[in-house]
Amino acid sequence: MAGSTDVMLRDLKLDTVESLPDDFDPTTVINDILPPVAIDAKLVNGIEKPREIVLGRNVHTSSLEVTEPDADDEVTGEREAYMASVLARYRKSLLERTKHHLGYPYHLDFDYGALSQLQHFSINNLGDPFIESNYGVHSRQFEVGVLDWFARLWELEKNEYWGYITNCGTEGNLHGILVGREVFPDGILYASSESHYSIFKAARMYRMDCEKVNTLISGEIDCEDFKAKLSLHKDKPAIINVNIGTTVKGAVDDLDLVIKTLEESGFSHDRFYIHCDGALFGLMMPFVKLVSPSSFLLNEKYLQTRDATGSLPSTLFLAESHKFVGCPMPCGVQITRLEHINALSRNVEYLASRDATIMGSRNGHAPLFLWYTLNRKGYQGIQKEVQKCLRNAHYLKGHLTEAEIGAMLNELSSTVVF
Ligand SMILES: Cc1ncc(COP(=O)(O)O)c(C=O)c1O
Repeated sequence: MAGSTDVMLRDLKLDTVESLPDDFDPTTVINDILPPVAIDAKLVNGIEKPREIVLGRNVHTSSLEVTEPDADDEVTGEREAYMASVLARYRKSLLERTKHHLGYPYHLDFDYGALSQLQHFSINNLGDPFIESNYGVHSRQFEVGVLDWFARLWELEKNEYWGYITNCGTEGNLHGILVGREVFPDGILYASSESHYSIFKAARMYRMDCEKVNTLISGEIDCEDFKAKLSLHKDKPAIINVNIGTTVKGAVDDLDLVIKTLEESGFSHDRFYIHCDGALFGLMMPFVKLVSPSSFLLNEKYLQTRDATGSLPSTLFLAESHKFVGCPMPCGVQITRLEHINALSRNVEYLASRDATIMGSRNGHAPLFLWYTLNRKGYQGIQKEVQKCLRNAHYLKGHLTEAEIGAMLNELSSTVVF
């Protein structure tokens, strides 16, 4: 096993890591009643009117028109001055909005000044990150370095995984479900009703039969209902989306229970495929075991699901990097079993590479940002941030409760619902 995370992190002089307060118990499940959903309304003449979203009626009032330069613009410099003032105002609004940002779990505190020197290059990683294509201005060496970092975190050998840096979390889900569909062309997709909308988008795009499974109050998949839904399609393989953090409640599906339910329903390991949507906590979860040794050990569960020969289950991970890592542009990390990717890949002659990704051109700057920040922080730095997020979430939940505002915080989640 290349670099067990446990060993790696033990070697990192953890005594220097800020420790959690004694009364911090990350294993507590807080079952408070959910507060009512906020009504999205605006005041019109003093009367509250629900905000309307009208399809097909596009709003152009706040757009910044692109205008043609005047003949003497270069001489007068007026155009440059106008554009500079627009950008300055925009920057100010970004500063303001970033300061008061709430609701999306994005890491907004980063400084990538050192990378500004690379802005002048059109860096594109189109094709397979592991195969050099004939487009020379790429950052594959950084991309593979980042993928190896994630693989090490999830205790994967270099020769048993394939992956790439996606343009967003949705692309990771579209890819994961597509791989599942290629492995089991007649498979039924199962996903909890609290899964991200991109999972159901994948079902529509690939014209797959999809069963929506009920959830528990926590937002976790309800395995009783899962069993009932499985019993309707015993003759077809199962493709399951498992959430490592749902979008709204930050619920983590119980991977062990999902696998047990499949087994009890008569699905042998060669008849199911699991895609894990770790957009929210895929990066956080491996570090949580250091916070509490008895806590949910996703990566241990993952390892337990290896079969007797030690080969990996049909499992796939994804972490969305603009969320926890902090990156100025959306991106994500997609990792799958190496053997599955051949089902999807096609050779592309003009690239001299292999097409195994969803998109064609891929942002070559994103891997540079990820490589830079992971190098700066390392496993230890990320671990500190995980601890800080969990501590902040408990702090917020505690104060909301004190103020008699209904709030919910799932086990090992950093999402406070109120
Ligand atoms: C659980 C989950 N999966 C996937 C996504 C999709 O991410 P993106 O908006 O980057 O496509 C999100 C986004 O919030 C999410 O919360």
